[in-house]
Amino acid sequence: MESALTARDRVGVQDFVLLENFTSEAAFIENLRRRFRENLIYTYIGPVLVSVNPYRDLQIYSRQHMERYRGVSFYEVPPHLFAVADTAYRALRTERRDQAVMISGESGAGKTEATKRLLQFYAETCPAPERGGAVRDRLLQSNPVLEAFGNAKTLRNDNSSRFGKYMDVQFDFKGAPVGGHILSYLLEKSRVVHQNHGERNFHIFYQLLEGGEEETLRRLGLERNPQSYLYLVKGQCAKVSSINDKNDWKVVRKALTVIDFTEDEVEDLLSIVASVLHLGNIHFAADEESNAQVTTENQLKYLTRLLGVEGSTLREALTHRKIIAKGEELLSPLNLEQAAYARDALAKAVYSRTFTWLVAKINRSLASKDAESPSWRSTTVLGLLDIYGFEVFQNNSFEQFCINYCNEKLQQLFIELTLKSEQEEYEAEGIAWEPVQYFNNKIICDLVEEKFKGIISILDEECLRPGEATDLTFLEKLEDTVKHHPHFLTHKLADQRTRKSLGRGEFRLLHYAGEVTYNVTGFLDKNNDLLFRNLKEAMCSSENPIMSQCFDRSELSDKKRPETVATQFKMSLLQLVEILKSKEPAYVRCIKPNDAKQPGRFDEVLIRHQVKYLGLMENLRVRRAGFAYRRKYEAFLQRYKSLCPETWPIWAGRPQDGVAVLVRHLGYKPEEYKMGRTKIFIRFPKTLFATEDALEVRRQSLATTIQATWRGFHWRQKFLRVKRSAICIQSWWRGTLGRRKAAKRKLIRGFILRHAPRCPENAFFLDHVRTSFLLNLRRQLPRNILDTSWPTPPPALREASELLRELCQKNMVWKYCRSISPEWKQQLQQKAIASEIFKGKKDNYPQSVPRLFISTRLGADEISPKVLQALGSEPIQYAVPVVKYDRKGYKPRSRQLLLTPSAVVIVEDAKVKQRIEYANLTGISVSSLSDSLFVLHVQREDNKQKGDVVLQSDHVIETLTKTALSADRVNNINININQGSITFAGGPGRDGIIDFTTGSELLVTKAKNGHLAVVAPRLNSR
Ligand SMILES: Nc1ncnc2c1ncn2[C@@H]1O[C@H](COP(=O)(O)OP(=O)(O)OP(=O)(O)O)[C@@H](O)[C@H]1O
Ligand SMILES: [Mg+2]
Repeated sequence: MESALTARDRVGVQDFVLLENFTSEAAFIENLRRRFRENLIYTYIGPVLVSVNPYRDLQIYSRQHMERYRGVSFYEVPPHLFAVADTAYRALRTERRDQAVMISGESGAGKTEATKRLLQFYAETCPAPERGGAVRDRLLQSNPVLEAFGNAKTLRNDNSSRFGKYMDVQFDFKGAPVGGHILSYLLEKSRVVHQNHGERNFHIFYQLLEGGEEETLRRLGLERNPQSYLYLVKGQCAKVSSINDKNDWKVVRKALTVIDFTEDEVEDLLSIVASVLHLGNIHFAADEESNAQVTTENQLKYLTRLLGVEGSTLREALTHRKIIAKGEELLSPLNLEQAAYARDALAKAVYSRTFTWLVAKINRSLASKDAESPSWRSTTVLGLLDIYGFEVFQNNSFEQFCINYCNEKLQQLFIELTLKSEQEEYEAEGIAWEPVQYFNNKIICDLVEEKFKGIISILDEECLRPGEATDLTFLEKLEDTVKHHPHFLTHKLADQRTRKSLGRGEFRLLHYAGEVTYNVTGFLDKNNDLLFRNLKEAMCSSENPIMSQCFDRSELSDKKRPETVATQFKMSLLQLVEILKSKEPAYVRCIKPNDAKQPGRFDEVLIRHQVKYLGLMENLRVRRAGFAYRRKYEAFLQRYKSLCPETWPIWAGRPQDGVAVLVRHLGYKPEEYKMGRTKIFIRFPKTLFATEDALEVRRQSLATTIQATWRGFHWRQKFLRVKRSAICIQSWWRGTLGRRKAAKRKLIRGFILRHAPRCPENAFFLDHVRTSFLLNLRRQLPRNILDTSWPTPPPALREASELLRELCQKNMVWKYCRSISPEWKQQLQQKAIASEIFKGKKDNYPQSVPRLFISTRLGADEISPKVLQALGSEPIQYAVPVVKYDRKGYKPRSRQLLLTPSAVVIVEDAKVKQRIEYANLTGISVSSLSDSLFVLHVQREDNKQKGDVVLQSDHVIETLTKTALSADRVNNINININQGSITFAGGPGRDGIIDFTTGSELLVTKAKNGHLAVVAPRLNSR
């Protein structure tokens, strides 16, 4: 209930006790209407469930729904049939008290549906029994069979139960269903022979004809056409769109197997069903003496076979009546009317007794197979009562009288139990009981059932007394006996005004639910329920095993008159009341929203009527007489504790004290509530609603607080996480820095002690220096042979460094050597020799170093062919233009200098001017300055020679190196490098002198002293 307290404006209240105006029927119906509009078909009146038939599948009975209602508190969830089912089941299990769910309401209100849903709930949610798990199936499958035989289409309900049913489900100590038992009440057997327009006979007839196999129908002598059977066409409505007989037949056929029917039993049962149809088609014709004779031999033949009764016996029984007078049996023939009556009576008896047999058979199947086991003794029982509701028709007969009497009894029980439980609760809670004003219908029950003075007694008396008793004599007797009863009225007793509404053959009862006028016609007959003796005899001789069980021979010899129907019914009702009283009751009150069986239609007049005759207003008044709302302290405190600072968020003391503090804080006035032992009782709904509204407001602020707290918590967590991470990073970084610093310090310490012998304090430093030297060395190795750089090694590595350096150099040299070409090698060799001769001795040597030596400076075309011819086969190794200075005047003359393998040849144009064999070349002189003059000294003894030759070459280093190289092979030539001056032999007995000085530019002149003066340019390098 709590869950929808907040939504009460839209969906009304979930519990009628919360209706402010609880005495107003209009408010009651308005609440029903609101909820019905929202498809909320269930509403409580305290513990009573009011259900409005939705006439549509609302999808509210699924497995999930069952789970939702399992084990939850009745009031915490919206009202539902499953809540009632679960509450009853839990009480059964925990308190081990028998339970009864009483479902009432008018025809079509949904009683049978509710019963089925309840059974389904138990079958699906209860644990399976250890043995005999099939009992669950049997419980479920007994339904379609009972419905087939006991339900029919009526104007009010396409599947109307034409009998009352009370079903016990037995549970073992573990809560598993282990057995069941069914009691049936007053089957409407008149339907077998007659149906009102628009109604049908019991479903089984149509199902058999529609769904039965050809073979079965042939055996039973049936045609697949209901129109052929007089008992099926009275209502002119054999086919109904909402009913699928063919499918239903399949269901019934399968269910029969589940509930232990053997094939033979099914056959016997169907034979009886068929025989009823054949009976209906038996016709009579009057003979000359107006005695009835059977005209339909064929039907008789089938009947004989199907019922296993001799044809002649049956024929006689149908057309005669056996009377025993003074110990003698007399056969009196029947007239047409009597014969038809006898036939119909037989059909009704056969069918109704078969139905009783069927219930007994089902009971045998449902009976716990384990009845002897210890668990059986500790079973608890849950009863389901699906009984006809109050009925008011245009024409009400004996059946309605019985049904309405039954409702009076149940209403009395209901009031009694409700009041009792209220009173008990008050007592248990220690609250003073305030007497409740309510209408006690005992007076009406007494009117019907009182011994000697009650209607049933009078009816029985009329039935039994000798003489001409008729329905009207019964009415007269009634008028005589109960004329002063305030709830009884007849035409004769009524005043002028009401008399009009009463026929002469009618009496009216003022039931608790309203007035009902009964027509006495047929009361005696129906109450007597007589079957002619010879018909009984015929049936007792039946070979059909079911029939022989239904008609027992002892019945024939029993002289005592059987109890009348009304008395039997009264007795069974008393028994039922006793059964129900011994159990803890739960109530489901079903309401039918419209007569058209349509979804969504809320017919107010119809509903008001039902609210009235179900006594719902009465029920509400009783419930509300004291307090509108009561709840366990724990539940109440849990829900509303947030409304009081002292109880929020946790109340540490007893819940009762918490509630006391809470209600004081809420300002409840003393007359508004009472504190029981375990519950708080609130008198007015408005008090509760005010509290609920306050809770709604509080919820908003609580939600904000919770959100804020949550956000705070969330961000604080986030902040703490970030903080932890930051601290972690910081400490890691500090650690790193610290370690670095420590390493540095260690390094410094090591550095300071680097010269000390290796010790722990400097070991690291020394190792570090070594490693870093070696690592650095890898990157700083010389790049080429000329690169002499080499990192300075630490003292400890000096030796190793030197070795490495050598290795490195050797390696580079080796690599270099491998890579040089022969030409280059020659070049280098020549350069090496040049270096040997001139390096550090002649000023212009450095300038020559980068200039490559060329193999020859004059091509063959630049040398005169005559010269070449003169040289003959001698190859020219090198040729260069030179300037020759005369020995006398020092005149410069242009010449070519050729080197052959054996001599230096000086050439003037086409003429070889001088040939100096290397053997005669005694030396070569050059100055140390930057000039390019040189002197070739020849042997003085050589007469062919004119003296030493003074020459100048622009490539003096190259020319002299080549010359030295060529000459060296023959003569170990000497190259003199002179400072200042060179003396040379100018001719025989005459020497010349060349003076070298430095100046700004090269100048070669003859000096006044007869010397050759050479001014060599001053080079920057000097
Ligand atoms: N809870 C429900 N949900 C959907 N449909 C329902 C519900 N209850 C009843 N009905 C519909 O109403 C029809 C009549 O219901 P049901 O047979 O239970 O009535 P009843 O009270 O047993 O009537 P009777 O007294 O004639 O046996 C059902 O066949 C079904 O179509
Ligand atoms: Mg029913």
